[in-house]
Amino acid sequence: MAVVVGRRPMRTVGTGVAHHHAGATRSGGRRPASRRKSDSGRPTGAARSSGENHVLIPQGRVVLAPLTRQRSYGNVPQPHAILYYQERTTKGGLLIAEATGISDTAQGYKDTPGIWTKEQVEAWKPIVDGVHAKGGIFFCQIWHVGRVSNNTFQPNGQAPISSTNKSLKPAVRANGIDVATFSTPRRLETDEIPFVVNDYRVAARNAIEAGKRHPITFLTPDILIRNILNYPNTGFDGVEIHGAHGYLIDQFLKDQVNDRSDKYGGSLENRCRFALEVVQAVTDEIGADKVGIRLSPFASYSEAADSNPEALGLYMANALNKFGILYCHMVEPRMVKLGEKFETPHSLRPIRDAFKGTFIAAGGYNKEDGNKAVSTGYTDLVAYGRLFLSNPDLPERFEIDAPLNKYNRETFYISDPVIGYTDYPFLPSDV
Ligand SMILES: Cc1cc2nc3c(=O)[nH]c(=O)nc-3n(C[C@H](O)[C@H](O)[C@H](O)COP(=O)(O)O)c2cc1C
Repeated sequence: MAVVVGRRPMRTVGTGVAHHHAGATRSGGRRPASRRKSDSGRPTGAARSSGENHVLIPQGRVVLAPLTRQRSYGNVPQPHAILYYQERTTKGGLLIAEATGISDTAQGYKDTPGIWTKEQVEAWKPIVDGVHAKGGIFFCQIWHVGRVSNNTFQPNGQAPISSTNKSLKPAVRANGIDVATFSTPRRLETDEIPFVVNDYRVAARNAIEAGKRHPITFLTPDILIRNILNYPNTGFDGVEIHGAHGYLIDQFLKDQVNDRSDKYGGSLENRCRFALEVVQAVTDEIGADKVGIRLSPFASYSEAADSNPEALGLYMANALNKFGILYCHMVEPRMVKLGEKFETPHSLRPIRDAFKGTFIAAGGYNKEDGNKAVSTGYTDLVAYGRLFLSNPDLPERFEIDAPLNKYNRETFYISDPVIGYTDYPFLPSDV
């Protein structure tokens, strides 16, 4: 199944890797995503098109940003996530799942989900089904933390892996209270890197598998058919490669961290090599039309800054064009620090102009500046994090200009399966 997310329609994509066509966009006669008027962030009338490929176009420009919630006990997604994601699903809307570990070395936080074991893949299925049942488009953010970890999260208490062996200073966690300590990482040997790239590839395949139902032979044909009809044979609609926020891919991209002297370090081209090998592997595995990537060239989280973020962003945008991937998701320069917004003179504009696929911007947006960013062609889509976390019906609230629930930072990462998770109120139905 091909998925198209707000693609500017007439553009040719890719270099022969898993081409898809934007048939619905063309046949629907819609204007390019970046030119269409969006005054509410509400569905703009696009729908599934039938034909050889099922093409989905997100309705509305309000994307759920990936949000770690640390409620996947023992790294296994839990049933309470069904309700959480379903609450935030609108027909045709795009949701990006929380960062999800690709392997047993990928973890750095308690109770974040994974997608490398059979149990985890099985556990994702009802969550993916829940989103699909409401007509949502669901991408899985695949993640490796690299050095933002310590031995307690690692198999056999080993050192976390990274591009470097430089360690991180202890840091206050995103909840503003706890202090995280990090173990000295182990610099990956050059010949180990393909194995890590392969972990991303397998995780991507697992994500696409995560909704697949294998026929159970003892069912009667009638039940079997009903089962298949009720649960379409599809997993996540795609994956978002987490290349942002100081995690493993960013540890290769940024010159403050990457101190390698092999083909993965030094020049911009070399520092981007790991990220692009991951993109290549994932694209080969599941098709470019199911692949997005998130990057934060301007951010400096976890001591991962770059001396020339604009050049880095531009290099990546141009390099990504060669793969024809579905989207590039960039974090605004103003999000220099986690959760804080500092206005800066920098802009994503040149990077957005260079990238030929769908562009998603995130970081500090409200309804007004989000709509402005879309209507001026600054981005195709806007991803909302904290506002969507605390307002499960955010698109509707934007549409009718309803007041918003305030988010409670203190419950972002607690383990409770309900509090701060699925208890943010919806608008009363008579509003
Ligand atoms: C609770 C929380 C968890 C987050 N988890 C992730 C994550 O898993 N992956 C990611 O790329 N960004 C993550 N972020 C960053 C958000 O996706 C988003 O970029 C950030 O909150 C800024 O957008 P906002 O101002 O709309 O909240 C997280 C942010 C918050 C507040």
